[in-house]
Amino acid sequence: MCYSIPGKVVEINDNIVVVDYFGEKKKARNEFYELFLGDYIYAQGGFVVQKIPPDEAKDILKIWREYFFKLQELDLRLTHEPKTLYQIANSTRRKYLGNSCCVHGIIEFSNWCRNNCLYCGIRKDNTQVKRYRMSMEEIIEQVRYAVLELNFKALVLQSGEDLWYDENVLVPLVKKIMEEVPILLILSIGEREIGLYEKLYQAGARAVLLRFETSNPSLYERYRPDHRLDDRLTLIRQLHNFGYLIFTGFLIGLPDQTEQDILNDIELTGSLNTEMFSFGPFIPHPDTPLKDTPKPTMEMVLTTIARTRIMYQESKILVTTALETLDKENGAKSGLLSGGNSLMINLTPNKYRKLYEIYPKKADVDEDIKDVIQKNLNLLSSLGRAPTDLGLGV
Ligand code: 5AD
Ligand code: SF4
Repeated sequence: MCYSIPGKVVEINDNIVVVDYFGEKKKARNEFYELFLGDYIYAQGGFVVQKIPPDEAKDILKIWREYFFKLQELDLRLTHEPKTLYQIANSTRRKYLGNSCCVHGIIEFSNWCRNNCLYCGIRKDNTQVKRYRMSMEEIIEQVRYAVLELNFKALVLQSGEDLWYDENVLVPLVKKIMEEVPILLILSIGEREIGLYEKLYQAGARAVLLRFETSNPSLYERYRPDHRLDDRLTLIRQLHNFGYLIFTGFLIGLPDQTEQDILNDIELTGSLNTEMFSFGPFIPHPDTPLKDTPKPTMEMVLTTIARTRIMYQESKILVTTALETLDKENGAKSGLLSGGNSLMINLTPNKYRKLYEIYPKKADVDEDIKDVIQKNLNLLSSLGRAPTDLGLGV
């Protein structure tokens, strides 16, 4: 199984390299390796994350070559003569970004949280939750499995805001991962001190997933007690200035959120220099104060994806598992056909996956990881998408 296409280094300008993928040239930032012309690498999110032996790369490229062009043809056919908003967005995606689709993994390593967001199933006051923390060894073991056996090149490490994982735990963890199995490591650990984030950057993490949840300050303060939108945005901006890639976004369907709020959410996400838009439907959880809120419709979510694609043609837009929860049969497919071009696969060990219940009945919760991956790869190939991340456009 492959989630990335190896690229050949054809130009080197300090730490920016130009990489060739079947004749298509992309730029990537190299911070971790000594590279020479002709070397083969994997890039993720615009970073060189792995250098690979030429023989291995050539074997993988041989398998990819024919398949890649077949997929492109299929994608072209499926985006022909767009009529509806969703189709126009999908054809915009193809025109600006081609058929590559990022496939990232996520490992949810702790469901403890010090906060009480009204919408969230693992909020501090929900006493129904059985809490867990994965040890450093368990996390590393799962990362090894994801990288070495399942071939992932980018992983999100996510938890509630759990201070048990302090600098003494997180810094060695990130260092060890980057030494052993280098990847694009994406942190999703909430509002922590900037000093901690700085140390984690030095240890090798290069991206942060931190949603601002809603651009409407009064809704924000209502649903995130004791928190202010400005603080969240300041942190996101600081992280970007520091060099982190930012994955951010919002919830769709919070009570009293208006259509204008959602348009503002899209614009705010764009203005935060986001590497990837990450927004999804709010799914009410029965053990939270918002349990009686109706779910948003698929149309609301797909329209938001399509509008985002039309406004930010070259952006990466994640199709979230929450969308799959809203429509188990067709959620991911519909998202990918409305402008989405990224997927995240849950790689949390089975025994913990059920316990990370931010919202109920998460898609894939009982399925074997390898089956979920195969299902997603089948979906991508049926839509003419190549499961890869080809780096920054030149
Ligand atoms: N439905 C959907 N998404 C949720 N999140 C929290 N609670 C819910 C819910 N009930 C999202 C938030 C948070 C991310 C980790 O999970 O946007 O940033
Ligand atoms: Fe904690 Fe995040 Fe849930 Fe809020 S949304 S309660 S910060 S895990």
